[in-house]
Amino acid sequence: MAITGIKGFNDILPGEVRKWQHVEQTARRVFELYGFSEIRVPILEKTELFARSIGDATDIVEKEMYSFTDKGGNNVTMRPEGTAGVIRSFIEHKLHVSDPVAKLYYMGPMFRYERPQKGRYRQFHQIGVEVAGVSDPKIDAQVQTMLCHFFSELGLDEPRLQINSLGCHECRPAYRRKLREFLRERLDRLCDDCKRRYETNPLRALDCKAAGCKEATAGAPSVLDHLCEGCAEHFARTRGYLESAGTGYDINPRMVRGLDYYTRTTFELVTGLLGSQSAVAAGGRYDHLIGELGGPAIPGIGFALGVERVVLLLDREGFSTRPDLFIACHGEAAGDEAFRLMSRLQRLGVSVEMDYEGKSLKSQMRRADKFNARFTLILGEDELGRGTAAVKDMDRGVQQDVSLQPERIASVVRGGDGS
Ligand code: HAM
Repeated sequence: MAITGIKGFNDILPGEVRKWQHVEQTARRVFELYGFSEIRVPILEKTELFARSIGDATDIVEKEMYSFTDKGGNNVTMRPEGTAGVIRSFIEHKLHVSDPVAKLYYMGPMFRYERPQKGRYRQFHQIGVEVAGVSDPKIDAQVQTMLCHFFSELGLDEPRLQINSLGCHECRPAYRRKLREFLRERLDRLCDDCKRRYETNPLRALDCKAAGCKEATAGAPSVLDHLCEGCAEHFARTRGYLESAGTGYDINPRMVRGLDYYTRTTFELVTGLLGSQSAVAAGGRYDHLIGELGGPAIPGIGFALGVERVVLLLDREGFSTRPDLFIACHGEAAGDEAFRLMSRLQRLGVSVEMDYEGKSLKSQMRRADKFNARFTLILGEDELGRGTAAVKDMDRGVQQDVSLQPERIASVVRGGDGS
């Protein structure tokens, strides 16, 4: 029997990869516009890095990590997210010494042993950013604006930005106590996970999807009413800067993130189009993480988006990549000329497909259809004799005679008139 792949680990086949490249290229383009540089860090890290940063009592660390002991007896883990490794590298290489502000982005596979379903996999891919060294809320607004900008560049304007503040080490403990008091009488209605987390992290009940938890937390005190002065001001200024950047948002005081390192601003980009996997991106501020991991006491903020979920949204929009031109030909001489034109056009930056094997014109046109080429050009003896051929715009159904010079053809395909 043939060996199959592992459950929750997907192949990304050639047709799909085009969409992935489009997403990755768009991220690079947009993030670099905002002054971010790429960093590449390993997939495997020491297990304690994730336990200390994401938090011992989180679902990720408790149940979802791919951890093992390597041949040297070291406890290692395949990264379940990108922030911890990027911050570890930032500290190890003292990046703050050369520049007090680091704006980094990364992309690659992450691993969590979750129950696979549409939009949720065991190997999945994130594109993320981390900023170290800025406490001013301008940066909170800037990273959220950049995230929204990235989505609108992809033509995905449906997901909405939701923001919240989780307070800080000063004000959150008092809120946590208040919430615990509120939940005490409703404890029997909470799901088993939330019951278990009641002591360590009662906030998780606020965004739990279980019906009992939703019911039990209705009317619960809001974290936003319990922020200290500093956190309330930070949140108000973040909102002001989002407004001045023209970035729309909703406030969701029940948003609680599944990782422990957050302080103050948290945010998610939420879609209504992917069923229960509604977060296409998420992030927040972590003002103590860098110090807690042994680095300088400087603040940080970042987000990560789930590439599989973005690609699912692109599919719903009917996204496809298409070659600029398909050259069909009949006869050997026309085939050779088509090859010459194709090679030169590609050098000019035009994407071109042709049939390499001299199949019938009918079968070539079927292929042109399959590729959904924007233009087609048919070459035969007549065209070779005349030195011109009809270039047909497949969307508009119009065609024009163009001289068989690569520059002329390129100009037509780019929207000029070829003369
Ligand atoms: P996260 O919310 O755990 O945050 O993940 C971010 C995004 O990754 C999610 O919104 C989702 O789109 C995607 N994602 C997570 N798990 C899966 C999965 N099993 N299958 C498919 N997609 C998934 C973080 O990871 C933080 N490191 C984000 C961050 C960066 N915060 C600050 N900086």
